[in-house]
Amino acid sequence: MQGVTVVDHPLVQHKLTIMRDKETSTAGFRRLLREISLLLCYEVTRDLELTTRTIETPLTTMEAPTLEGKKLVFASVLRAGNGLLDGMLDLVPAARVAHIGLYRDHETLQAVEYFFKAPSDLENRLVIVVDPMLATANSAVAAVDKLKSRGATNIRFLCLLAAPEGIARFRSAHPEVPIFTASIDERLNEQGYILPGLGDAGDRMYGTK
Ligand code: PRP
Ligand code: URA
Repeated sequence: MQGVTVVDHPLVQHKLTIMRDKETSTAGFRRLLREISLLLCYEVTRDLELTTRTIETPLTTMEAPTLEGKKLVFASVLRAGNGLLDGMLDLVPAARVAHIGLYRDHETLQAVEYFFKAPSDLENRLVIVVDPMLATANSAVAAVDKLKSRGATNIRFLCLLAAPEGIARFRSAHPEVPIFTASIDERLNEQGYILPGLGDAGDRMYGTK
């Protein structure tokens, strides 16, 4: 599917299966999400540009590769985005962080914003939006709309599960923003939940059902 990368690494798929299982505990769900986020982060940053700098090893001088450009921004869509964020910060500790508070109105499925805090200089940074679920895509579209309104131009979207309906909507709203996901599931149900899915990601992470 154009603009969509499915991360089909066996470890990701194995961990995702355990996360989908309704018998998996809250603690297990959280731990697995953190573990998977390391592997997803590896994929979403695979093509980052490198430059070189001169260093002294104990034996000689060398021109060694180092990341080019300004520090990345990870933009977490609250609440469940934080489950991906923590592992990604383990891998890229110097990244800047944006928090975007959004919840889905259960009747309309529209995204309602309640919080936004981001670095002021988004213009020249790669912004990776993280949220485990791309269902109707109302939340993801609203998050990217907001980031663009604050100057972001180079954006990627990273999730765990995506519904075909959400991918189509997101691609039509933000066609230049690539999507990275561990799975494209079958469809949405009447309540806008992903099938087969894993349920409500925030509730499963925090035990708030
Ligand atoms: C979940 C999820 C996404 C959103 C996806 O959050 O983390 O943000 O739903 O659904 P959509 O693609 O149809 O917008 P939710 O609104 O349940 O908020 P929460 O994480 O605070 O529980
Ligand atoms: N949000 C979730 O947490 N799960 C879904 O299946 C859809 C939206």
